[in-house]
Amino acid sequence: MKAVKQVRKAIIPAAGLGTRMLPISRAVPKEMLPIMDYPALYYLVKEAADSGITDVLVITGRDKNAMEEFFDYSPEYDATLTKKGRDEDVKLLHEICDMVNVYFLRQKEPKGLGHAVLRAKDFVGDEPFAILYGDDIIFSKRPVVRQLIDTYEKYGLSAVGVKEVPTEQLAKYCSMKAQKIEDGENEYYVDDMIEKPKPGEEFSNLAILGRVLLTPEIFQILENTEPGAGGEIQLTDAMAAYARAYGVTAKVFEGDRYDIGSKLGFAKANFVKALEHPETREEFAKFVKEYLEKE
Ligand code: UTP
Repeated sequence: MKAVKQVRKAIIPAAGLGTRMLPISRAVPKEMLPIMDYPALYYLVKEAADSGITDVLVITGRDKNAMEEFFDYSPEYDATLTKKGRDEDVKLLHEICDMVNVYFLRQKEPKGLGHAVLRAKDFVGDEPFAILYGDDIIFSKRPVVRQLIDTYEKYGLSAVGVKEVPTEQLAKYCSMKAQKIEDGENEYYVDDMIEKPKPGEEFSNLAILGRVLLTPEIFQILENTEPGAGGEIQLTDAMAAYARAYGVTAKVFEGDRYDIGSKLGFAKANFVKALEHPETREEFAKFVKEYLEKE
C-alpha cells in the first residue's frame, strides 16, 4: 500500500456558466443561489471544513465576485447588528468566514471541469486533495469528503464518491468499471471509467456524483488530456487514464445529493431544507399538505 498523506486541501470548481439555470445564472452565480438562508457554496465549504480540510480553493470566473464577498468579514453588518444587540448573528457571520482558509482563482474561460481543476496545480503541490463539484450539494450524517478520506487512508488509493444510477440516466454522468472489495464498506476497486457513455458503452451503474479525492499525478494527465464530450476538457477522461495507471477506489457514499445546477435539484434541496429548518418546518409542512390537497 502506498503511504498516505494527510488530506488538507480541497478544490471547488465553480466557474461554469450554469446555462441550465438561465436566466438567473446570468446575474447570480448558481453556486450563490440560496438553499434556504445559505448560498449553495456555503454547504460545500462547510462539508470540507467538517471533513478536516484546512484550505479550500474555489475556481471562479467573471461576474462571480459575490462568492468572495460571502466569505469576508463585513464591518458594516457587524456594527449594525452589535448596535441592535444581535451578537449571535455577528458570531455566526464570523464563523462562516473562519471555517477554513478560502482562496479564489479565476478560470479565464470555461473550458470544462478538467480545465478548471488544472488551474489548481500549484495550490495542490504534492499533496492529496479533494474536489467538490460546485453544483452538487450533499446532505449527509458524515461529510462525504470525510467518507472518501477514510477510504483513501484504508487502501492508499485515490477514492471517488459514487452512487448507483438508473441505466437511462448514465449518459448524463459517467460509468465505473468496478469490482466490489470483499470486507469493504460499500467500496470498490476501479480500473477504468467512461464519461457520458452512449447506450451499450456502460461498464456498470456506478457513477461519480460530485466528490473525488485524488493525488497530484492527475495534473500531468490533465495536461495531456484532449477536449472530450462537449468540446470540454473532461475530468473523467483524465481520471480514467489515472485509474488505468494507478488504480482508484470508489465509495458508495452515505448521503442525499442534489444537483443544484438543475431546476429540479435546486427545488428539491430547498424543499428539504424548508422542511428541516426550525423556523419554517411546521408551517411549511402544513402549507405543502394544504397546497397538494387543493383541487
Ligand atoms: P457543469 O457542467 O454542471 O457546469 O459542471 P456548467 O457548465 O456551469 O453547467 P451547465 O450545463 O451550463 O448548466 C460542474 C461544476 O464544474 C464547474 C461548474 O461551475 C460546476 O460547479 N465548471 C464547469 C467549472 O468550474 N469550469 C468549467 O469550465 C465547467
